Amino acid sequence: MIADLQHLEKNALAELEKADSEDSILAVRTKYLGRKGLLTGLLRNISSVPAEERRSFGKRCNEVKELLEKNIEEALLRRTEDQKAGMLAGQQIDVTLPGRGIRAGSVHPVVQIRREICDIFAAFGFSVVEGPEVELDYYNFEALNIPKDHPARDMQDTFYIEENMVLRTHTSPVQVRIMEKVKPPVRILSPGRVYRPDSDVSHTPMFHQVEGLLVDRGVSFGDLKGILTAFLRKIFGEDTILRFRPSFFPFTEPSAEVDIRCVMCGGKGCRVCGQSGWLEILGSGMVDPAVFQNVGYDSERYTGFAFGMGLERMAMLKYGISDIRLLFENDIRFLKQF
Ligand code: DAH
Repeated sequence: MIADLQHLEKNALAELEKADSEDSILAVRTKYLGRKGLLTGLLRNISSVPAEERRSFGKRCNEVKELLEKNIEEALLRRTEDQKAGMLAGQQIDVTLPGRGIRAGSVHPVVQIRREICDIFAAFGFSVVEGPEVELDYYNFEALNIPKDHPARDMQDTFYIEENMVLRTHTSPVQVRIMEKVKPPVRILSPGRVYRPDSDVSHTPMFHQVEGLLVDRGVSFGDLKGILTAFLRKIFGEDTILRFRPSFFPFTEPSAEVDIRCVMCGGKGCRVCGQSGWLEILGSGMVDPAVFQNVGYDSERYTGFAFGMGLERMAMLKYGISDIRLLFENDIRFLKQF
């Protein structure tokens, strides 16, 4: 039996030495120290050892058991230490990796076109001013010669805040606010957000416009044509062909819409221009004397012209964007192209 015990000790330590996973270490423990384990079996049979040797055999058995327990415990501990070290090694900083650069953002196309337009008009002597987005009915409509219940209101669907307060449907009310404050001459440009309950490939409930106003002595329709022609050629190229088409706005008389030769098909007719070969770009006209009267300007002494345009439309035509909603989805893959 003593020989069996020595044999068992040797085998158990050798197997433990080879065990390289938690499972195999635990298997050694079960094999020798488990309830049906080999060492447990030897101890159970202690009665077959001659009485005088029993004491020392029992003692040896316990020594072997303690040694195995200690070694198993240590082997398990070493395993977890190894694992931790392995994980830490995996997390170590690899100083040879290329650095992650700081990715610079880009300017939103609507902001780009706004800046471009403001810069061009600044060179023509216009200053940039802003007005409120929540606007009184008076400034948005009435002072611009659009009375309550007048059919001209149908041109602009409106979000009402309350009976006499709206989300402005255009930037034209800024004209009135400025003229109330300053005497002529006036040269202002007013960019900003405007709102209309509309939504499809070319309309969003919020969009941007730029309004322009020039008032002085002796301003004529020729000045309007000259400035707007120079402006549109700077935006769309010096050989841009344009036409001034008679139109109607309650706050200008006469009024004109300005079209450019379609930038997509060059005038042959395509989907973008609705086969007409022309693209409507802006509304304009000579300020109606009724508007001057509302702000206390003498329409016998002063004349002026005004114009308004949508920034999204300008950006879409200039950069070839087919769906206005792309401008507001904030998809980085779209935005970083500009
Ligand atoms: N406010 C007009 C609109 O939103 C655009 C416009 C047309 C502005 C003619 C003007 C103008 O100043 O003279 O449809």
